[in-house]
Amino acid sequence: MVLITGGAGYIGTHTLIELANAGYNFIVYDNLSNSSRESLSRAEQIIKKDITFIEGDIRDSEKLDSIFREYKIDSVIHFAGLKAVGESVQKPLDYYDNNISGTVKLLESMNKVNCKKIIFSSSATVYGDPKVVPITEESDVGVGLTNPYGRSKYFIEEILKDLYRSDSSWKIIILRYFNPVGAHSSGLIGEDPNGVPNNLMPYITQVAVGKLKYLNVFGDDYPTDDGTGVRDYIHVVDLANGHLKALEYIDRLKNIEIFNLGTGVGYSVLDMISAFKKASGKEIEYKIAPRRDGDIAACYADSTYATDRLKWIAKRDIEDMCRESWNWQSKNPNGYSK
Ligand code: NAD
Ligand code: UD1
Repeated sequence: MVLITGGAGYIGTHTLIELANAGYNFIVYDNLSNSSRESLSRAEQIIKKDITFIEGDIRDSEKLDSIFREYKIDSVIHFAGLKAVGESVQKPLDYYDNNISGTVKLLESMNKVNCKKIIFSSSATVYGDPKVVPITEESDVGVGLTNPYGRSKYFIEEILKDLYRSDSSWKIIILRYFNPVGAHSSGLIGEDPNGVPNNLMPYITQVAVGKLKYLNVFGDDYPTDDGTGVRDYIHVVDLANGHLKALEYIDRLKNIEIFNLGTGVGYSVLDMISAFKKASGKEIEYKIAPRRDGDIAACYADSTYATDRLKWIAKRDIEDMCRESWNWQSKNPNGYSK
């Protein structure tokens, strides 16, 4: 049995589908602070099975302990966390409490019942402004981080390393995601940000659907081919599949291991606008705006290590990502709230 914390969220729902298709049993644990039950009922429609869902917070040790006592949980996929960069600057303590204290409490509960396998959602943000691209897992981390969200991911990685040093019977996989976009091909589940999106793809789809007027392109004077920021966009279904591969691999771990999950290809903001137009037939109005604080010029992954070890590779291309983001957004202009 796998416990999926944060399983009602964007990446969690896509991952539970991969797990269900591969025959895994799982429980979703989520406090619904950034998601809804609707995402899980949509996921149930896709997998044609009921999902065991327990509403709760990872900081609630009593509740976690009772779950670990009641169910025979073999491993945990730990998605639960807050992820809005701007909000983390305004409310650092909330982010440190939720993400860091929450993770520590989860690890304590796991330890009590000797459940010692965990896959943790980290982010390419831990690399700060990379000196070299593509970025390998050996690149420096924790330097030049610009916000508490990014630091919380970095600190949790360090906590996990310390835990492993203290007790090597833990099996810990850290997955560093690049930029997840796209949605399940059914259009039933997808990314449903609160308020005005911070990230590029949901912003583009909301312009396309008419909820927002135009896109602000944050800077056109970066040292990239067209001057706009370059990122490694990865289809969320490929990312979800990376978790399945990690789960299949975890018993073979000899050390704590870290994997980049990206495609290895960087696209600029203007590339994304034209790929989206091609996939959706929708014109995206945009204006060049000043650079956004904390942004970097280019960031894309070297994911060879994941391919070698996990036998994982991202299969979906930029057209799939745009088409399926649009399929989700056009079918659900207001996300999960009809
Ligand atoms: P999401 O907000 O859609 O999902 C996170 C889920 O965790 C939500 O359902 C939320 O309700 C739940 N949650 C938050 N705090 C909780 C708590 N204290 N107890 C229980 N549940 C809690 O986000 P996502 O995009 O699916 O991201 C999943 C994970 O991946 C996060 O840890 C995020 O930081 C990380 N990540 C995301 C991205 C991205 O671009 N989406 C990139 C890198 C890393
Ligand atoms: C951002 C976060 C990062 C987080 C990641 C995934 C910042 C500084 N970084 O990364 O910590 O892990 O999201 O949640 O917020 N862009 C526009 N206009 C927009 C939105 C974005 O031009 O309205 C540009 C950005 O400048 C960037 C690219 O699009 O060049 C991608 O932006 P975004 O989707 O926010 O991802 P990141 O900046 O990579």
